[in-house]
Amino acid sequence: MIRPAARDRLIVALDVPTVEEARRLVGELGDSVGVYKVGLELLFAGGLGFVDELRGLDKRVFLDVKLLDIGNTVSRAIANVAELGVAFVTVHGHDVKTLRAAVAGRGASPLKILAVTVMTNLTADDLRQQGTTLSTAELALRRARMAHEAGCDGVIASGQEAAAIRAEIGPGFLIVTPGIRLPGSTSDDQSRIVTPERAIAEGADYLVVGRPITLSGEPRKVAILIASQIRQAHAAQGKRA
Ligand code: C5P
Repeated sequence: MIRPAARDRLIVALDVPTVEEARRLVGELGDSVGVYKVGLELLFAGGLGFVDELRGLDKRVFLDVKLLDIGNTVSRAIANVAELGVAFVTVHGHDVKTLRAAVAGRGASPLKILAVTVMTNLTADDLRQQGTTLSTAELALRRARMAHEAGCDGVIASGQEAAAIRAEIGPGFLIVTPGIRLPGSTSDDQSRIVTPERAIAEGADYLVVGRPITLSGEPRKVAILIASQIRQAHAAQGKRA
């Protein structure tokens, strides 16, 4: 397997209000970023058209729609997503039936299906409120097992839970980690945060980074810094980055 370069392990979340703003940011980041996440904010501002523009620039696209619905609806939605030429899509990993439906909907397309385990902004208290007695780590691991069983390509999981998932499921199952923060920076509304180095050390394959780059005032510089931290973390593990 050819391991992607450190630059291609960084996924920048284009959480901006307009396509114009996204275009400006992508232009400024230039060749420092190879993968972009298009999520709900941009999608509702014409972001689906921008997906084509990103593909035209040779960027890979992660469509973060976090689907959760009955199996038939999810399956048919994924079949249409597969036609868009995006590389990754997200589905909530709450139940194995939905996940199996998502995998079936993809058909023979190379689209990678990622199951969201436990949102990185949630705490143990939030889970208790939902009636869950499991810890965030236990629930994330349980949902990762379900996603694997259902045939998903990987999960979205906090860096705090990545190691347990990697240990149980092994290599080849993608772990994509949001909630990344540079040392000493604000956590915003995120709860289970880790640094880029720690996320890689714990077993993450890809890091999703939004505000630490987009609101930094110097996005290219921060993206290059994070890619270099990914490279160093790989080197510390004795991997080629
Ligand atoms: O700005 P920040 O780096 O916190 O952005 C994280 C991105 O990852 C957001 O686009 C958010 O929607 C997404 N995300 C997340 N936690 C998950 C799944 C996706 O923060 N569990």
